Amino acid sequence: MERSTMLLLSAIAILAFTAAPALSADADPILDFCVADLTNKNLFLNGLPCKNPATVTSADFKFEGFRGMGNTSNPLGIAIGFAAGATFPALNTQGLTLVKIDYANTGGFVPPHVHPRASEIILVLEGAVLVGFVDTSGNYFSATLYAGDLFVFPRGLVHFQLGLNSSYPSLSFSSLNSQNPGLSLIAPALFASTPGIPTMVLQKSFAITEAQVKAIKMAFGGH
Ligand SMILES: *[C@@H]1O[C@H](CO)[C@@H](O)[C@H](O)[C@H]1NC(C)=O
Ligand SMILES: *[C@@H]1O[C@H](CO)[C@@H](O)[C@H](O)[C@H]1NC(C)=O
Repeated sequence: MERSTMLLLSAIAILAFTAAPALSADADPILDFCVADLTNKNLFLNGLPCKNPATVTSADFKFEGFRGMGNTSNPLGIAIGFAAGATFPALNTQGLTLVKIDYANTGGFVPPHVHPRASEIILVLEGAVLVGFVDTSGNYFSATLYAGDLFVFPRGLVHFQLGLNSSYPSLSFSSLNSQNPGLSLIAPALFASTPGIPTMVLQKSFAITEAQVKAIKMAFGGH
């Protein structure tokens, strides 16, 4: 083999190796489908166990959970619907989640959070939504999205969504490239974990007083 060909082949091999983790978030399926058997609670694996394929029907591939408007009568003014492996069994092993968010026109808010296992693309269909994320260098990226606009939250970065249209409830859909993206809300993770993170640790983390830590813990129902 010519030296230049070998160099090219090794370059391709290195690229393929380094790029592979970015190509998909979840492992590739090795079956046409693996509709989850949610009744099996005793088997723990990376994904969910499959139903017997002979018992799978068209109905397994249909999800009706996003019909109508979500109930946003709660302190955050949002209704979040998840079509993920655990709620829509056909998504098991497919590396996909779809999330519907209704935002009350009184400022529906999805507080800062991360999805450790997925990138997210958000599409606003009604109203207006302020979105933002912070990268690992501390740079803040943000935009106001109107009906028809898309935005990307790169995998694992802290981000939020805030409904801005005060006369109309906003609506967005997000697609994530994992059947189980994971959701960690920053404030509850730190101030309402079980058991609680020691007050001294939170004081030092945020340069605040013990009383302030206690007040925030109380606000989030922490210990
Ligand atoms: C919406 O949720 C609130 C709070 O949980 C509840 O009181 C209310 O009955 C719900 N409204 C509807 C239409 O389900
Ligand atoms: C609020 O949303 C409605 C419906 O999408 C739109 O007609 C209206 O122009 C929006 N108002 C503002 C201030 O963005």
